[in-house]
Amino acid sequence: MNQLKQVAEYHDKTLPFYKIFWHRDDESYALHYGFWDKHTKSVKVSLLNENKFLADILKISSGTKILDAGCGIGGSTIWLAKNFNVSVIGITLSQKQLEKANQLADIHGVQDKVEFRIQNFLHTRFPNDYFDVVWAIESVCHAENKKEFLVEAYRILWFFEKRY
Ligand SMILES: C[S@@+](CC[C@H](N)C(=O)[O-])C[C@H]1O[C@@H](n2cnc3c(N)ncnc32)[C@H](O)[C@@H]1O
Repeated sequence: MNQLKQVAEYHDKTLPFYKIFWHRDDESYALHYGFWDKHTKSVKVSLLNENKFLADILKISSGTKILDAGCGIGGSTIWLAKNFNVSVIGITLSQKQLEKANQLADIHGVQDKVEFRIQNFLHTRFPNDYFDVVWAIESVCHAENKKEFLVEAYRILWFFEKRY
């Protein structure tokens, strides 16, 4: 079985276990480790800390167009759509994650701001310069060749210095 299929199959099969053992009933829907500091008292808060940390350093603002590369069940995608006036496309290799992410987007009323697709983040079908931000939490670790991810992210990102 090729590596992309293995990743897809792993995430299809383990989807229920993350709910039982990881994010449980909190609404982070995170499939990542959290960030802990001296103020963090629960896993739930630590999971959201990671989103907050990235959003802060990226200075996410209204109108930002974001790719959530390896979006899991849409935890960060939905969090970004709820907390900022942004549009986010989440991509995953797992059909089961895609279905769950769409359900959660409905539940949270963000269907107009988010979209989920099955795509490989090493070779996407997006045009050049399409996104302002490529966001990836604990997903690029699955790529055998990390450079391929960086090359693709550079291609689909728009940023001022690239053009001028
Ligand atoms: C551990 S989960 C992290 C999910 C999410 N970022 C989060 O923090 O909750 C890894 C995700 O990366 C995705 N992934 C791994 N390799 C990928 C690839 N080549 N293209 C697209 N998605 C990929 C998996 O399908 C899965 O959704």
